[in-house]
Amino acid sequence: MSALPQYGKHLHPSAKMRAVVIDRYGGPEVLRLANVPRPVPTRGQVLVRTRFIGVNPKDVIVRKGKFKVATGKKFPLIVGHDIAGEVVEAGFGADLNVGDLVYGMINDFAGRAYAEYAAVNVHQLAIAPSSVALDVAAAVPLAAQTALQALRDDARLEPGQSVMINGASGGVGVFAVQIAKIMGARITAVCSHRNAELVKELGADEVVDYGKVELVNLDDRFDVIFDVFGNYHFEKLKHLLASRGTYVHTIPSARIFKDVARTFVRRKRAKLVIVKSRRGDLDWLRQHIDAGRLRVVVDRSFSLGDVADAHRYMETKRARGKVVLAVD
Ligand SMILES: NC(=O)c1ccc[n+]([C@@H]2O[C@H](COP(=O)([O-])OP(=O)(O)OC[C@H]3O[C@@H](n4cnc5c(N)ncnc54)[C@H](OP(=O)(O)O)[C@@H]3O)[C@@H](O)[C@H]2O)c1
Repeated sequence: MSALPQYGKHLHPSAKMRAVVIDRYGGPEVLRLANVPRPVPTRGQVLVRTRFIGVNPKDVIVRKGKFKVATGKKFPLIVGHDIAGEVVEAGFGADLNVGDLVYGMINDFAGRAYAEYAAVNVHQLAIAPSSVALDVAAAVPLAAQTALQALRDDARLEPGQSVMINGASGGVGVFAVQIAKIMGARITAVCSHRNAELVKELGADEVVDYGKVELVNLDDRFDVIFDVFGNYHFEKLKHLLASRGTYVHTIPSARIFKDVARTFVRRKRAKLVIVKSRRGDLDWLRQHIDAGRLRVVVDRSFSLGDVADAHRYMETKRARGKVVLAVD
């Protein structure tokens, strides 16, 4: 534990940094590069010089203003959650050191990752995997922690159980397939025909092409349905759940909140995953990545200046694995 703050050589209290900001909610065109004040880490935080940023659908949703009740009207706003980079300053009580290569997710609702520097609570960061480059590490935190927390904490998936993963080839899905495999489950992955080989390679036992098969017509029963893509709801798929099965959804809505409350004491239950960045989960993911059990699938990389194109690509909902921004 470094009790005393450590200061990087080149830092200055009035220093500026490049960041992608928005001045209003809207389309990809509202994203613009700007010079803004560099954050200063407070107690329990470190300042990370961000090298790569993971792009997530949540960044797009925040940019559009769909969460403005939570993200507010104070502009300019920096969005984004996933970072990988180097610790350049450590505040009081921060147990990471200057020079550490770290990865993690900023838990704030809007995030503030799309910048050269981010001040982040150390509990939301961990030492980055050593077996992959930092651009690959940046693709992990939000999506992989969502998959882990949904399967382990919400679904309580156990070895030998069967799980259906709908949206198996996207950012969260590619991790969900592999994490379910590590947990010893039997996996039915749902994706389009073009991604069938990929999800098989990642560990799926069965692949269902949603273009050919209506999920509601499947004969199987699953202990867990992880609706990553989120285009179904509990009532529509509950006949596919085993008698004590759990359905986990990813998109907050009045319907899922009602389903969660309604099924709280039922045998078949609906859950909503709400991802939180945690040191322990990032450590778990790093160990599996470094042991070669968890592959990170990066579809495309963009430079920070091309962030609008990265968002346009995310909005196609066709990303195969993850999309990453390079800061330098
Ligand atoms: N609640 C939380 O804490 C939380 C955390 C993370 C993500 N999420 C939400 O979870 C959702 C998925 O996130 P993500 O990062 O995985 O998204 P993503 O990477 O954008 O997902 C893209 C994938 O969706 C697949 N897809 C498109 N149409 C489909 C369909 N009709 N059926 C099944 N799959 C389809 C595509 O595969 P094909 O090309 O093969 O169709 C593509 O691989 C988003 O809505 C996100 O906001 C919520």
